[in-house]
This record gives sequence, C-alpha cells and structure tokens, in this order.
Amino acid sequence: MKTKLSQKEINGLDLDGIIGSEIHFFPELTSTFDKIREYPPHNGLTVVCARQTAGCGRLGRRWESSDGGVYFTFMLTPPFNGFDIPFITIVCALGVQRALNKYLPCGIKWPNDIVYSGKKLCGILTRNLASHGKVDAVLVGIGINVNNSIFSKNLSHAASLSSVTYKEYNENLILTEVLNSIDDIYQNMSCDEILRLYKEVCVNLFREVTLVINGEELRGICTDILRDGSMNANIGDRIINVHSGEVSVKGIYEN
Ligand code: BTN
Repeated sequence: MKTKLSQKEINGLDLDGIIGSEIHFFPELTSTFDKIREYPPHNGLTVVCARQTAGCGRLGRRWESSDGGVYFTFMLTPPFNGFDIPFITIVCALGVQRALNKYLPCGIKWPNDIVYSGKKLCGILTRNLASHGKVDAVLVGIGINVNNSIFSKNLSHAASLSSVTYKEYNENLILTEVLNSIDDIYQNMSCDEILRLYKEVCVNLFREVTLVINGEELRGICTDILRDGSMNANIGDRIINVHSGEVSVKGIYEN
C-alpha cells in the first residue's frame, strides 16, 4: 500500500543501526545536501525529504525529484570503519541493491546506479565535507524512484519501482530497509566480502562499456572493479583504470 514519507511515519521507523539514528524530515528542500550542511558533523545523521526543487546528480546533472520518490542524504564521519572514502560509494550501492532486490531483481551499473532491465531506479552521489584540508564527513545522497513515474523526455532510461511493477509502495518502509541494509554492510562486512558481492550484481563487469573521458569516447570491456572503487577496462590492447568522478559509462543506457 502506498504510504508517503512523513515525520510521523519516520518517527516510528524500525531503524537498528547508526545510519539513520537521527533523522530530520522535510516536505520540500532545494536539496538534502543543502540542508544537511546546516548541522554539525555527526555520524549517521540523515536528512530526508519528499521532493527537491534543485536535486543534484552526478557529473553536474540535475536529479528529478518529484513527490513519490525517496530522497535523502546521510553523513558518515571518520575513520569510516577503515574503508577508503571512494569505497563508501560501493558500500552504499550494494546496500541499496540488496534492499531493492527484495522487490524486483536489480543490479548495479558501475559505480552506483541501481538498475532494473536497463532502466535506472536509483542514483547515489557522494560529497566530502572538508575543512583545513581534512575530511570532516562524507555526505551520501541517495534518490530512489519509488512511487514517482513521470520523468522528463530526456530521462527515457529512468524508471521507478511503481512504473515497472504497477504496484504502490510504502516509502517509509523502503527508506528503513535501505538505511538498515547500508548500515549492516558498513558495520559488519569486510572490503573483500563487499567487493565479491558487488561484482556478483554489477551489470558492467565483463560487458562492453563506452567510457566518456573529457569528451573522448573509448570502447572496451570492463575487466575488474578494484578495492578503491575504480574500474579497469580493456581498451584495444591496454588496460585503463578509471575513477567514478572523471568518467561516464555508456553501455547499459546512454550515460
Ligand atoms: C546520480 O546522478 O545518479 C546521483 C543522483 C543522486 C540524487 C540524490 S537525491 C538525494 C540527494 N540530494 C541531491 O540533491 N542529490 C542526491
């Protein structure tokens, strides 16, 4: 049954980890990234909203954030349970994939898009909060298309849980399950275990990819995902190593 995000429902959430241990809900924000910066660094602090008027996506894009989606940012503070900062995006992608996989069989398009049948259900963007040259916190912003289904014409690759299953979902329950799933992986799994599970559901691995680096398109095969969250691709006769911030990957859909 469709249940919209609300403070009352969120107060009753069955969250059992650090991530989401303090949650602030807002009906509308410019972006959950803007709001969370107003709080002092605090491990697990989470800001959730029902819609965003200026949602941010990867590579400088906008994130369409109408009612029915679940939009949130949480904060992690050092020492990040020993994980390298770029690996946090791998942890979170796996956490979301495992939570949503209960509803429909989904995979991960490297580095952190959650996809179902070639369509994007969820995007993740991480940003560092830094002062005096050191990282005070990592901000993880996640947008999940749940009950929203109207996307702009240029988002033909986007889908929501509801648009592909013709059902309606409890947005608060999905928020809980995703936060608990990420927390479980972050607190309890080793880097090797996470990477193994990630590779099992990564839709790019051993598949053809087109990397767009500074406007140049390079075609090849994705051969590995590494412990720093980067991807190796075999392009012609050489292996190149790319990090998520510098490249867009075509292949599953066109960006
Ligand atoms: C992507 O481009 O794939 C990443 C999209 C990330 C969207 C989420 S929605 C919650 C948080 N606030 C934002 O402004 N962006 C992220």
